[in-house]
Amino acid sequence: MTSDNDLGGGTVSSEVGAFSTPTDDILRVEHISKRYGAVTALVDVNLRLARGEVLGLIGDNGAGKSTLLKIICGFQPPTSGRILLEGREVHFSSVQQARAAGIDVVYQDLALVPQLTVYHNMFLNREPVRWPLLRNRVMRKLSREHLDDMGVHLPSVNVEVASLSGGQRQAIAVARSVYSENNKVLLLDEPLAAMGVKEGAMILDLVRGLKERGNVSIIIIAHNYGQVLEVCDRVNLLQGGRITYDKYSSETSVEELTERVVAEYRKALEERQREQRSA
Ligand SMILES: Nc1ncnc2c1ncn2[C@@H]1O[C@H](COP(=O)(O)OP(=O)(O)OP(=O)(O)O)[C@@H](O)[C@H]1O
Ligand SMILES: [Mg+2]
Repeated sequence: MTSDNDLGGGTVSSEVGAFSTPTDDILRVEHISKRYGAVTALVDVNLRLARGEVLGLIGDNGAGKSTLLKIICGFQPPTSGRILLEGREVHFSSVQQARAAGIDVVYQDLALVPQLTVYHNMFLNREPVRWPLLRNRVMRKLSREHLDDMGVHLPSVNVEVASLSGGQRQAIAVARSVYSENNKVLLLDEPLAAMGVKEGAMILDLVRGLKERGNVSIIIIAHNYGQVLEVCDRVNLLQGGRITYDKYSSETSVEELTERVVAEYRKALEERQREQRSA
């Protein structure tokens, strides 16, 4: 199987219809491959993210979705290929470097310190200080304003994060990440996993709000195609480490996406049965 999404301006298959000129793109991933020893996690992946766009990255367990985000966010290097941010090639050797360049990643629960209050978490590692004191009053006020502004409603910013739900924590992690004026690209790895209906809706609202403001571009990994189509402008499907499908949400459906993934499963099953018969 080949991925037809040649970003170099080559032929574009009908399955890869969402195409634009490079100048629209805040982020481009070109010919990225990743091997972990004998395991090949990504094969010649090309991906583009337009300014202000929300891109859904879908695919089965083990398809390579997290691997791709971990490369973009500087957590690990690719085996080959390159990344362009606003048209310039970038090489990140840490998540901090990528963050400084405007690419931030949010993993559920990992990003916050449970023992600290909401407002301390909001300002983690960039606390305003009037020596020798942290400016608690300022942090409280700004946190409250910012969370309200983003539609994240918490009982209080003075409570410990440990006392909040997973969805509320996730919302704070996302809010903190976009609070940084510097952020251009936000990467969300399964922000809706293990969320209740209300919490999931809160995260989706947050993403929608960001989209309306249009100052940050987002890649979101999710397994619920209905939610993906609801909030994303475009969808890319990763199958066995390759992007096999790239379409605008308006041009596809839950049925089509499901059919694609089920077809992959059936094909693998048939291949296994053939192998067993010939063994
Ligand atoms: N650190 C690692 N060392 C070795 N193999 C890895 C490592 N990380 C990922 N892999 C392998 O790379 C492949 C892709 O994994 P990845 O975590 O990117 O999948 P995913 O699409 O995010 O799946 P899921 O939906 O289950 O989260 C898998 O075969 C996985 O076993
Ligand atoms: Mg994953």
